[in-house]
Amino acid sequence: MRFSASALLIAAALSVPSTAAETTFRRSDKRGLVFVPSSEHPTDNQIWVQANSDLSWYYNYGVAPSPAYQSQTQDQFEFVPMLWSPSTTFLSQVQSLISGGRNITHIMTYNEPDGTSSTGGSQVDPVTAATNWISQVEPLRKLGVKVGAPAVTGAPQGFTWLKSFFAACTKQGTNCTADFIPVHWYGNFGGLASHIGEVVGTWPNTSIWITEYALNDASLSETQDFFNTSAEYFDRLDYVDRYSYFGSFRSGVSNVGPNAAMLNNKGQLTDIGSWYLGGAATGNQPGGKSAASRLVLGGWSLFAGVLSLVLIL
Ligand SMILES: *[C@@H]1O[C@H](CO)[C@@H](O)[C@H](O)[C@H]1NC(C)=O
Ligand SMILES: *[C@@H]1O[C@H](CO)[C@@H](O)[C@H](O)[C@H]1NC(C)=O
Ligand SMILES: *[C@@H]1O[C@H](CO)[C@@H](O)[C@H](O)[C@H]1NC(C)=O
Ligand SMILES: *[C@@H]1O[C@H](CO)[C@@H](O)[C@H](O)[C@H]1NC(C)=O
Repeated sequence: MRFSASALLIAAALSVPSTAAETTFRRSDKRGLVFVPSSEHPTDNQIWVQANSDLSWYYNYGVAPSPAYQSQTQDQFEFVPMLWSPSTTFLSQVQSLISGGRNITHIMTYNEPDGTSSTGGSQVDPVTAATNWISQVEPLRKLGVKVGAPAVTGAPQGFTWLKSFFAACTKQGTNCTADFIPVHWYGNFGGLASHIGEVVGTWPNTSIWITEYALNDASLSETQDFFNTSAEYFDRLDYVDRYSYFGSFRSGVSNVGPNAAMLNNKGQLTDIGSWYLGGAATGNQPGGKSAASRLVLGGWSLFAGVLSLVLIL
């Protein structure tokens, strides 16, 4: 049998992606880590900085870099400080990170200010946040640091809060201009895509970061399907600059259901955990959880926020 050269080229072109897809997940330079440190299992913290990982940045809900990543990775794993709730020292703390030589290019602000503290929200009113932003965030923006809008929840009240915040800034004489809008989402892909569409429709010329997302409390196959579909979607959309999946913890302590977690109960990467780093499926099952260790949805945000505050002091 004779093959034309073009048929061979087509055959080669077809065979390469299918082989690659069997071994590793799609690669992406947008991925980062929502870092939920494990004090019980500190070795878990290092799994996120292995060689060849796709993760290029992290945040920990606070202004202080995580001790786990300070010496060995500060140049390859970019830290994004967060102003979790109003503070009068955020500006000076970020300035000292920069003058200390750290490459701070972006910051995030107010974690779920429209949410309650019982679900990990910072529970701030828009007027107070606007006043604090004008004193602590505007000066950083003038220095060239890119700033994220307040990271509201994915609930309809998030839009109301954010609109009130921008209006409160203008009323106080300053337009609080954001360089990007963080999005949080827990639910299915249809809901996620429609939510992003609404954010883009409301603020058309701003990039988006999806800084917390997962399909919570679903079956493993639904959770993996959601994970794959959303990663492909975020990679394809030009206006999505970065994303960080909510699940850098063991399945047994997951507050979004065991199947969303990136680690099983032995601290090994699940399929999703490995795919998120750009690797191959591990076959490690998330496993069950003990009822006692289950936290309320969003509890990690609060926990991590409080922890970072403790680390600063
Ligand atoms: C600082 O970080 C930004 C964003 O990750 C990167 O583009 C830039 O090259 C970094 N600069 C230095 C000096 O490392
Ligand atoms: C704020 O934005 C509005 C609308 O774009 C503009 O008219 C106004 O001049 C801005 N105010 C300041 C203080 O920059
Ligand atoms: C968005 O950007 C485009 C192109 O720069 C501009 O024409 C349009 O007016 C902007 N829209 C808003 C709402 O600022
Ligand atoms: C998700 O992607 C991985 C890697 O490409 C693939 O092996 C797996 O079958 C996909 N799972 C689903 C449910 O789409």
